[in-house]
Amino acid sequence: MNQKARFLQVIDVYKSYSGKVVLDNIDLQVKKGEFCTVVGPSGCGKSTLLRLIVGAEKPTEGEVLLDQVSVGPPDIQRGIVFQRYSLFPHLTVLANTSLGLRLGGRPGSERMSSQEIKDESMDILEKIRLAEHADKYPHQLSGGMQQRVAIGQSMIMKPKILLMDEPFGALDPDTREDMQLFLIELWEQEKMTIFFVTHDLEEAAFLGTRMLVLSQYYSDGRGNGKGINRGAKIISDHPLPRMASNTSGKQSREFTRLITQIRKEGFDPDYLQHAHEFNLLHPDSFQTLTEDESRI
Ligand SMILES: Nc1ncnc2c1ncn2[C@@H]1O[C@H](COP(=O)(O)OP(=O)(O)OP(=O)(O)O)[C@@H](O)[C@H]1O
Ligand SMILES: [Mg+2]
Repeated sequence: MNQKARFLQVIDVYKSYSGKVVLDNIDLQVKKGEFCTVVGPSGCGKSTLLRLIVGAEKPTEGEVLLDQVSVGPPDIQRGIVFQRYSLFPHLTVLANTSLGLRLGGRPGSERMSSQEIKDESMDILEKIRLAEHADKYPHQLSGGMQQRVAIGQSMIMKPKILLMDEPFGALDPDTREDMQLFLIELWEQEKMTIFFVTHDLEEAAFLGTRMLVLSQYYSDGRGNGKGINRGAKIISDHPLPRMASNTSGKQSREFTRLITQIRKEGFDPDYLQHAHEFNLLHPDSFQTLTEDESRI
């Protein structure tokens, strides 16, 4: 097992709601610095997996570790960006960005002077290219700009991992592509570890250095009868080449081939691969199956 991969570890994790299994024996290791994207059919449990990593919920069974430590309740080591609604409408861009520091949320930040907080916040605004909009209010910004502020709000806390759940889902297609390029650039500059959930397959394949497919459409030794209470597993795991710094790669043959393959493997309820046949191609991917699941 690759030691460096043990930055984020999800070990034999199950999550059920009222007896219904949603996540079914998930194993995952993610390296520091990886840009890991997650796709899967609606309702398969992507947000649930993200909430387990944030610590907003506990696994029914199994364990989630970040940097070797079991994940507790949400804290600033795990920054999170949602589709919308993370900005306070009555605060300026600068005040929204500096909020975490002003609330003393980063160890040591309770001793920072207001000038130090302002300077650090302006540095972040430079990085997210909003310095000249520091005094504006959220309603004066475009949707893409608002999401950049939300990213800035998380970044200022220097989180170990940035967790994003459909962060560009509410943006129009052109802004969305701009934001994808922006995020890749930021990830490269800041060497962040990103875990990014989306149901847009093209977005996932374009952004990630690694793409996970979470799906409930597979078969295993537990059979396929009606009584089987089966949840989603990681059914494929692809290392991805970093593309050029524009979106033209989305038209390439390899890209379209990958998308077509994943649409079939992960999103077609009638195409059921056996758990032994999953495309776990990333060097850090692994899977532990129970005896029942392993049976052919
Ligand atoms: N707090 C909860 N209580 C009960 N059931 C829940 C809860 N949260 C999620 N679920 C159920 O778990 C399943 C997975 O939900 P989740 O939101 O993780 O899916 P998702 O993959 O993020 O879907 P989408 O692509 O639509 O965002 C769904 O069937 C959902 O109804
Ligand atoms: Mg979701």
